[in-house]
This record gives sequence, structure tokens and C-alpha cells, in this order.
Amino acid sequence: MQRWLKRGGIGVAVLLALGAAAVALAVWQGDRKRERQVTVAVHGITPATDAKGVARGHYLYRSRGCVDCHGVDGAGREFINDGNGMRIRGPNITPGSPTAKYSELQWVRIVRHGVKADGRAAFIMPSEDYNRLTDQDLAALVGYVRTLAPRSGGATVVELPLHIRALYGAGMIRDAAEKIDHSLAPALPITAAVNAEHGAYVANMCIGCHGPGLSGGTIPGGPPDWPPAANLTPGKGGSMTRYTDSNAFVSMLRSGKRPDGSNIKVMPFESLRELDDTDAHALYAYLKTVPARPEGQR
Ligand code: HEC
Ligand code: HEC
Repeated sequence: MQRWLKRGGIGVAVLLALGAAAVALAVWQGDRKRERQVTVAVHGITPATDAKGVARGHYLYRSRGCVDCHGVDGAGREFINDGNGMRIRGPNITPGSPTAKYSELQWVRIVRHGVKADGRAAFIMPSEDYNRLTDQDLAALVGYVRTLAPRSGGATVVELPLHIRALYGAGMIRDAAEKIDHSLAPALPITAAVNAEHGAYVANMCIGCHGPGLSGGTIPGGPPDWPPAANLTPGKGGSMTRYTDSNAFVSMLRSGKRPDGSNIKVMPFESLRELDDTDAHALYAYLKTVPARPEGQR
């Protein structure tokens, strides 16, 4: 009997050691993956310098999420610090940062493809949300960022707990460069109007968290205290049933609250409240047309 117990004990120890080795291997693979070079063929854009283009860029910068991670002034900002080994700070992207030397191609690679100037994949930046930006909008955005007052310092901070690095190595968390279909041609401009077609364009900024099919679920790589993203489709457990008309939906975007007054977590309301009436109402028109999916199928 004792012999069996002892053997059993050795068995458990072996399993634990194997488990630890598997985690260590996955962490190592993840760290290597972050060093890989990603090559994507891109064509350049001509950053806007005219007042109208720069103003459009300012609007996009405010309303599409850049502010949440890079700050209103572009000097960078810590936006996750969970006190448990996860700390993330978006870098300074003003002309006082390394972006001052970016070529047009490097701008296109980071914003649309999630590839940093040194050819490595960005880990946090949700470039999948920005891949569908039209050339015009991308040119406006870059044109605006170049007009920001130069600030110094403020480099990226990406400190990740071991399990996130392991999940990344094991392929359960993918970076934007892995998620993006780099072969797609840039989206063609459509007229901004309150319709589903334009709403679909705006809704690209929701897919990093709600998934390409907008059915929500756990946000891969998010801190443990983040609730799952809501299902925005009419599928089972969908949240859009709460918003019986466009105005109710738009006041949620502006207030950060559900119709019953409760607060919605995680959503980047600092940006969402900046969406103009056309973009906000078009989003609603689009969300009414998306096919139903069960929650969490991303
Ligand atoms: C969720 C946070 C987040 C959002 C939203 C975001 N970024 Fe980033 N961005 C980052 C982080 C973090 C990095 C550093 C690279 C990485 O992801 O590991 C980065 C890198 C960059 C870089 C490269 C700078 C460098 O020195 O590496 C540029 C340029 C940039 N972002 C511009 C933008 C613009 C423009 C937008 C809006 C369209 C935007 N970002 C939206 C978090 C974000
Ligand atoms: C940074 C991640 C993130 C982004 C970007 C994001 N969401 Fe969310 N969203 C969430 C999370 C997480 C929840 C669940 C919040 C909760 O349960 O408190 C949520 C909830 C919702 C809800 C349900 C609100 C309710 O009544 O409970 C709606 C509707 C919604 N999001 C729409 C959008 C739209 C539209 C966009 C893009 C314009 C968007 N979200 C962008 C993370 C995000």
C-alpha cells in the first residue's frame, strides 16, 4: 500500500514537473513570438496637411480610441495597472517621440497592420480595429498626430503576467498582426450617413473587444477583472435588446450607462462619447442588421 502511495506521489510530482515545463515552454515560445519579424507589403499614404484633413484626423484621434491609450496630447498614458503583474502604457507618439522619423510606410504598418517600426508585432495596439481605415482617413489621422506638440519620454510599457505570456506562446491569445488579413486592399471611402453601410465602417473600432462577428465573450488577454464583452448581435443573451431605439443607444455611448442607470465597464467611453451624431446613429443602424450569433463566438 505504502509503495503505491509513494509511486502515486512520484506520479503527481512528475505531472507537476511536466506541467511546469509546458508552461515554461509556452512562455519561451511567446517571448520568441514577440521577437519575430512580420513583413507586410503596404503602399504609402500622404499625411494630410490641409486644415480640413487635420480636423478630420483630430476627430478620428478623439473618437476611435487613440486617446484612451496615447492620451489627449499624444504623450502616452498608462491604461492598465492591475497590481498583479499587468501594467501597460501606450507610448508617446508626438513628434518628440521616435514617430518623428517614421516614414509613411511605417505609419501604415503600425496603424493598419499592427507592425512596429522595427518590424516586430505590436502586442497591445488593436490595429485590427484600424485595418479598414480608408487611405483618406489614415492620411488625416497621421496628419493630425504630426501636428501634436512634441513631448519627450513616455516609452511603451508592456509588463505581462506569466500566464498571459504562456497563452500567447500557446496561440490562445493572438496579436493584431496575426488576426489581420494583410492581403485585403484598403477600404474604399463611403459617404458618411446614418445607414448600416457607414455604421459597419465605424463598427470596425469595436471588433478588437467584441470580436469580428460582434458576439462578444471574454476579451483575450484582458485583465481577470474585465467582464466579457457583450453580444452585440440579436443572438441569445444579446445586449442590444435593451436599446429599443437609436436615441437610447446613443445616450449609452455618451453617458457610459445602461438605460437602467447602471455603469458599463471597460468600454472606452472617453472616445465613444466623442462619436458625432452621424457615426453614433449609423452604428445603431448597422448593429440592427448583423446576423445573430451565440454569445462568445467572437
Ligand atoms: C488599447 C490601447 C491602444 C489603442 C486604442 C491605440 N494604441 Fe497605439 N499603441 C498602443 C501600445 C501599447 C503601443 C506599443 C506597441 C504594442 O502594442 O506593443 C502602441 C503603438 C503605437 C504606435 C507606435 C509607436 C511606437 O513607438 O511604437 C503608434 C504610431 C500608435 N500606436 C498610434 C495609434 C493611433 C493613431 C491610434 C488610434 C487610431 C492608436 N495608436 C490606438 C496602444 C494603443
Ligand atoms: C476595450 C474593449 C471594448 C471596446 C473597444 C468596445 N467595447 Fe463594448 N463592451 C465591452 C465590455 C467588456 C462590455 C461589457 C461591460 C459590462 O458588462 O459591464 C461591453 C458592453 C457593450 C454593450 C452592452 C451594454 C449593456 O447594455 O450592457 C454594448 C451595446 C457595446 N458594448 C457596444 C460597443 C460598440 C458599438 C463598440 C464600438 C463602437 C464597443 N462596444 C467597443 C468592451 C468594449
